[in-house]
This record gives sequence, structure tokens and C-alpha cells, in this order.
Amino acid sequence: MYNNKPLGIFDSGVGGTSIWKEIHSLLPFENTIYLADSKNAPYGYKSVDEIISLSIKNTELLLEMGCKIIVVACNTATTNAISILRQKFNVPIIGIEPAIKPAALKTQSKNIGILATKGTLNSSLFMSTSGEVTNDISIIEVIGEGLVPLIEEGNIDSDETIMLLKKYLQPMLKANIDYLVLGCSHYPYLIPQLKKLLPENVSIIDSGEAIARQTKNILDLYNLASLSKEKPKLQFFTNSEINVLRKFLIDYSNKVTIKNLAF
Ligand code: DGL
Repeated sequence: MYNNKPLGIFDSGVGGTSIWKEIHSLLPFENTIYLADSKNAPYGYKSVDEIISLSIKNTELLLEMGCKIIVVACNTATTNAISILRQKFNVPIIGIEPAIKPAALKTQSKNIGILATKGTLNSSLFMSTSGEVTNDISIIEVIGEGLVPLIEEGNIDSDETIMLLKKYLQPMLKANIDYLVLGCSHYPYLIPQLKKLLPENVSIIDSGEAIARQTKNILDLYNLASLSKEKPKLQFFTNSEINVLRKFLIDYSNKVTIKNLAF
């Protein structure tokens, strides 16, 4: 019975649906509840205290809804709040961090780029992770200012988005990167645009698949995996524009429910 409780997933908005898709693809029978806190997006420019209190609010709501584990599908919330969430709540909490280490292991040019929010790049967790990368590798960090609001508006293909991406990639290309790490769960939605702007030798890494595998491992470890083989209940809640969230879930429209909720 306990095992069929939902997985709780939250993000500052629609971006974490990129993570939800990976989780659902690996764990298709798990019930899920996703909270899109779009009303408070972007988290990337909030203070650490604000990010922590929003993360606590989202986690409390998911636990009230009966979730068995929490996936923080937001790099900014993970890098600023996960240790507090783990201290405060007595359920497994999985977070998402920029995939700096895999990129550092693979790079040939010894230069890797990371595009993330200000909140992630300034966090002590990110600084300690990037500090562990060996000295012979340069990490070119760029804040993706303005990208999250554009994605939240559904403006993925706009001239403004392309202009910003060009600007953010410029110092990375100048530094001869061969790996681009996407350190924000919103950014996988920009991969088609990024591919058009990047030379062929630059690979893009995001953390979606890794977090889905980690979620499966944690469910197995704690004996929390669902035993059901029935159609799962896939619930999405947003505290903002429902149509934007719907657009990001268009391929799943016959499977999911999307509702407004004041939180
Ligand atoms: N999806 C969040 C992340 O992964 C976006 C942060 C924001 O709202 O600024 O960092």
C-alpha cells in the first residue's frame, strides 16, 4: 500500500517537467505529483533564505499530499536548500546538480562550459563541487540571465531567446569548450536552439537521466517502488498560467491531469 504513494517533484516552474519526463520514462508505473511554483519563478535571483523557505513550502505541500519521496527538480533549489530539506524532513530527498564531474571526465579540450542560474553558480554546494575538478580543467561559468522567464512564457524560439543564447555561448566558444553543462532544469527545452548555435564537436550534458536513475535506486534501496502495473495517476499543479504548463506536457495530454492550485 505504502509503495503506491506518489513521488513528489517540484521546480520553480515548468522546467522540471524535463526531469519528470525522464523519471516517468524510467518508472512508468509510479504515481507522481508535480508542483510548478511558477508564481515565484525565477528562483535564481532570490536570496538563499527565500529559496530555502520556498523549497520547504513545496516539500511540505507534497508531503501533505502523501508523497513517499521528494525530487527537487531544480538546480537552484537543490544547491541552496537540499541540506536543510534533508535535516527537516524524514523522507528520502533527491536533488539535481549540474553535471560538472561527468563533463570533466570526458573533456578533451580541458575546457567545459556551464550555463546555470545566478543562485546555482553562487551556491556553496556548486562551488565545492566545481572545486573538486582538477586544476588542468577550466570551467567557464555563465549565468543564463533572462532565460528562465522566457521559457516560463513559452518563448523558446523567440529572437530574444536566440540572441541571449548567442551572447552566453560566446565566451565559452572563445575558450574552446567541448562540453556544455546545462545547470538548470529549464534549459533542456533549449537544446534544439543550442544545437543550431554550437559547433558539432561540442556535446551538451544535462542531469535528467542521472536523476531518474538515482530516483529508481533510492526507491529500490528503501523498498519504496510501486508494485502496481496499472495506469498511474500523474498529477500536475501550477500556481500560475495553466496553458503554459499544458504546452510543455502536450505529448502526455491524454495521461496527465493539470490543475491550478494556490500555493
Ligand atoms: N529550474 C530551475 C533550476 O534548475 C530554474 C531556476 C529559476 O527559477 O531561476 O535552476
